[in-house]
Amino acid sequence: MELRLTEVVEHLRAAQADSGEPLCAYVYDLEGLRRHAAGVAASLPQGCELFYAIKANSDLPILQTLAPLVDGFEVSSGGELAWVREHFSDVPVIFSGPGKLDSELDAALERRVDCLHVESLFELQRLAERVQRHGKPQDVLLRMNVALDNLAETTLMMGGKPTPFGIPSLELPECLAWLRGHPEIGLRGFHFHLLSHQLDAQAHLRMLAACLEQVRQWCDQYRLSIEHVNVGGGIGINYRDPARQFDWAGFSGALPALMQRSGLAGVRLRFELGRYLSAACGYYAMQVIDIKRSYGKTFVVGRGGSHHFRTPHAQGHSHPFHVIPVDDWPHAFARPAAANEAVSVVGQLCTPKDLLAFDAVVERVRCNDLVVFSYAGAYAWHISHHDFLRHPHPRQWYLPVQEDAHAAVERA
Ligand SMILES: Cc1ncc(COP(=O)(O)O)c(C=O)c1O
Repeated sequence: MELRLTEVVEHLRAAQADSGEPLCAYVYDLEGLRRHAAGVAASLPQGCELFYAIKANSDLPILQTLAPLVDGFEVSSGGELAWVREHFSDVPVIFSGPGKLDSELDAALERRVDCLHVESLFELQRLAERVQRHGKPQDVLLRMNVALDNLAETTLMMGGKPTPFGIPSLELPECLAWLRGHPEIGLRGFHFHLLSHQLDAQAHLRMLAACLEQVRQWCDQYRLSIEHVNVGGGIGINYRDPARQFDWAGFSGALPALMQRSGLAGVRLRFELGRYLSAACGYYAMQVIDIKRSYGKTFVVGRGGSHHFRTPHAQGHSHPFHVIPVDDWPHAFARPAAANEAVSVVGQLCTPKDLLAFDAVVERVRCNDLVVFSYAGAYAWHISHHDFLRHPHPRQWYLPVQEDAHAAVERA
């Protein structure tokens, strides 16, 4: 999935040569993103829709690259909704997330949200109040938390067990009865986002099949006529073994049969993918400041750290990286280096938790070389604690899509 590492490295080398001090930067490969997202969109069969969950990375150049390729954006807060509407007046938006405020429900009604994903009966009741004040109807999907037989768990589960997300199946009859008395709220279908970090395409297909079967039973039992089933996001990135990624081709190739078997003729299947769309386009680069040995372990200290790039700590993994040699060495004394050994890559924070990679065997890494972490385009900068220790923020570059003749654009 790292389609254009060479272009990213060229850009970083040039930026490093120009930089007066050790470099620390995010580089986003928008052309790589465009190609990847276009491939995902094209692989989906008729009857499927692709939304981008912007929480993964809501930077404007990322959204601008994706907007023409997806059916719309999924937002999970009033802030995300305002950001999208400020820049995209017409893109279809769907609004998920627990704990929506009344003001966020109002904003959803004012800013023409296509569909709200409702998390509880109480949220439905509050929405009905807002809808009456606004005087126009609103479509919803009910976000369901279903306990499925043989649901293969991943490292991050949002459903299939007690969680704050969605409506437990047992509460569905009460919600449906309430909805029958409130025609101003249109039940367009059901929403599921049961897990994240799914790496097994077959397990994901089994889960989707079980969700669709559950929806079919509800439709039969309660005589519902629906238009959409949103099956969420959750496709993972294999950070631990980047050569073995989710088998997207196998997954998308099996969707037509799965939809046919579901017995839900005419019902559209919506995906709202975050990580799988944007992770691979992002790179986080740190220039090596020091290399130290401590009681048998080797530490590579880079400019920056988990306050910029929290993904490895958040997921508890050693993040994959490349070492890009920088031959320039301005000092008269020997250059610290490590070769053919396992290293830990750490940042500048005063905590042992500032650990980005560990037990990573390197051929060679020297002070001043660049360590470039791949798969840093989703849940990376946006989930990090930027101001801890008040180190400067990293540079942020966006390598343009190829039709665009401009040089890389740096964000102010
Ligand atoms: C409701 C919902 N939809 C979609 C997503 C996107 O998930 P992912 O980035 O794993 O595709 C999330 C992420 O947590 C979510 O909570």
